[in-house]
Amino acid sequence: MPKDAAARVEKLRETLRHHERLYYVLDQPEVTDAEYDALMRELRDLESRHPELLTPDSPTQRVGGKAREGFVKVAHSAPMLSLDNALDEGELRDFDRRVRELLRGAEFQYVTELKLDGLSMAAHYRDGQFVQAITRGDGLVGEDVTENARTIRSLPLRVPSKLPQFEARGETVMNRRAFERLNAERDERGLARFANPRNAAAGSLRVLEPSITASRRLDYYTYFLQVDGQPAYPRHWESLEELARMGFKVNANRKLCRDVDEVLRFCAEWEARREQLPYEIDGVVVKVDSIAQQQQLGWTAKAPRWAIAYKYPARQALTVVENIEVQVGRTGALTPVAHLKPVEVSGVTVSRATLHNEDEIERLGLQIGDTVVIERSGDVIPKVVRVESHGSGRKPFRMPEACPVCAGKIVREEGEAASRCINANCPARLKESILHFAARGVMNIDGMGEALVDQLVDRGLVHSVADIYGLTLAQLVSLERMAAKSAGNVIVNIEKSKQSPLPRILTALGIRFVGERTAVFLAEAFGSLDRIAQASVDELQRAEEVGPKVAESVYQFFREPRNQELVERLRTAGLKFEYEVVRKKGGPLDGMTFVLTGTLPNLSREEATRVIESAGGKVSGSVSRKTSYVVAGEEAGSKLDKARSLGVELIDESRLLDLASGGRA
Ligand code: IVH
Repeated sequence: MPKDAAARVEKLRETLRHHERLYYVLDQPEVTDAEYDALMRELRDLESRHPELLTPDSPTQRVGGKAREGFVKVAHSAPMLSLDNALDEGELRDFDRRVRELLRGAEFQYVTELKLDGLSMAAHYRDGQFVQAITRGDGLVGEDVTENARTIRSLPLRVPSKLPQFEARGETVMNRRAFERLNAERDERGLARFANPRNAAAGSLRVLEPSITASRRLDYYTYFLQVDGQPAYPRHWESLEELARMGFKVNANRKLCRDVDEVLRFCAEWEARREQLPYEIDGVVVKVDSIAQQQQLGWTAKAPRWAIAYKYPARQALTVVENIEVQVGRTGALTPVAHLKPVEVSGVTVSRATLHNEDEIERLGLQIGDTVVIERSGDVIPKVVRVESHGSGRKPFRMPEACPVCAGKIVREEGEAASRCINANCPARLKESILHFAARGVMNIDGMGEALVDQLVDRGLVHSVADIYGLTLAQLVSLERMAAKSAGNVIVNIEKSKQSPLPRILTALGIRFVGERTAVFLAEAFGSLDRIAQASVDELQRAEEVGPKVAESVYQFFREPRNQELVERLRTAGLKFEYEVVRKKGGPLDGMTFVLTGTLPNLSREEATRVIESAGGKVSGSVSRKTSYVVAGEEAGSKLDKARSLGVELIDESRLLDLASGGRA
């Protein structure tokens, strides 16, 4: 029945495209991942039985392309020039004055857009189909990265457009989460880290193997719509709206401004909020809206006169590395930390920066006494970007041969970036283990912070994580800075933590490679801690997303006598090792319906869904009067307005975790 097959294939493609757009572009999925996967599987299946039906714009073809020998150079339809910069308010006002003079008093508007820090790229479409992607290159000639760009989920392979051919220009970026994840993975594998999301995006787009690009989770935001190198609509704002209508991702944080004061307010507003965005920005792009006026203003040799980039002050500074100290983490990994001559970076005094590991110090060519460029980004600890100049009496750094805390042996295994203290009793490791165990989102023992843990370990009250459950009120009250009331709270929170569900306990144990997500999959696959502990490496791999590396780590963990003892002591303390069935009746979120929108600070959409479902709640794709809560993150979309108009309560991620762990509604 080839005819039926053809119809079904078309229908499936249409449905999948619709859901991809809802998920990747609008961030408002209507179906679960499993439903989406099932449709994709059906399509793949049909296409393999009817290869004649296969087309390059099929949703199955994102990673279909072949690796290349090298990139082919391609000329742009019109130069991809860059912008002049305005480094402060004065320079922006100068730009505005020039524009007003050249427009001789005519009325005009500016469009302001966030300046995403990534890589510019031109995506070409013919008859509604994506046909080619070219990097900016030198502005005149770029590289053909079509197969790699095809793997970017927010780049539509097919669009409903009346234009027979056009070009969507924009920025390829990697969001902070994907960037952090990528670097963590590279640390594990002993590979050099990417210095920033921009480099990571560039490195990921320009690899010769498209499946690598696909695994890097890039995003594509468009900001120009052109036909034959010319703007497609009489106003820039209209182009942006048309791009969004066609299914491209267009940054929602944009504005039409009547004058430079409004532009400056937009700049200031986003400068204050830039750290909360899921991606990095380095400024605001200001463009004259009318294309006729743009043409009147024209271009210099390098850049348009109708646009400017208002750059935020660098969050970089120069300072001297006075010393390099080594910290010991939970897994015994030694992290070198640079002690800096204190320096102010955009309003914050910085005196420390992480150096990650020995290889990173080598890559930087850093020695103690050198002057370095440091950078603050997001909420993370500042990092050293590069060495600016060598200090006169510079001293090389050497990893200590013994643990700086317990004097135990240090080992660096083949293929690992980190050196580790292998003494399981090392006080530094114990402190970090307790902090991890008690952390928010793990066992949630509020009040069990650094100051308390230091005292507990240093005074010998706690020798193992399990000792927490033997602490008494009297012991806590005897400590410094511990009032009776807060000591009481800690005891109550320790008691409450005994009710933590299995995935949290698994995470709390601190098994290498077992984070929150893997813990859920393990708990779901085996149902109890004892069954996980008894499973063979092969059996462990039956759990979702558990490969040989994770399985081996879990297996070894439970073979270690110290860990076996820890597990037994936790059992005796009253922790619950059985995993209750998902969506159990009587969970804290029983009967409640949640809608997720925007990017949450820590949880992915899948993780948030699991959190809700495992506490008995339901997740829905659209807001209605029956919605109990809308969980909103950064870049929340229209669901936010819908929630407001229906009077549905809005909550953030931390409130969700609260409710899911039994906090009061
Ligand atoms: S307009 C001729 N709009 O910033 C017009 N650029 O220095 C040039 N960028 O190379 C670009 N977000 O890589 C424009 N909304 C935006 C942008 C943006 C980021 C980058 C782009 C460009 C550089 C300009």
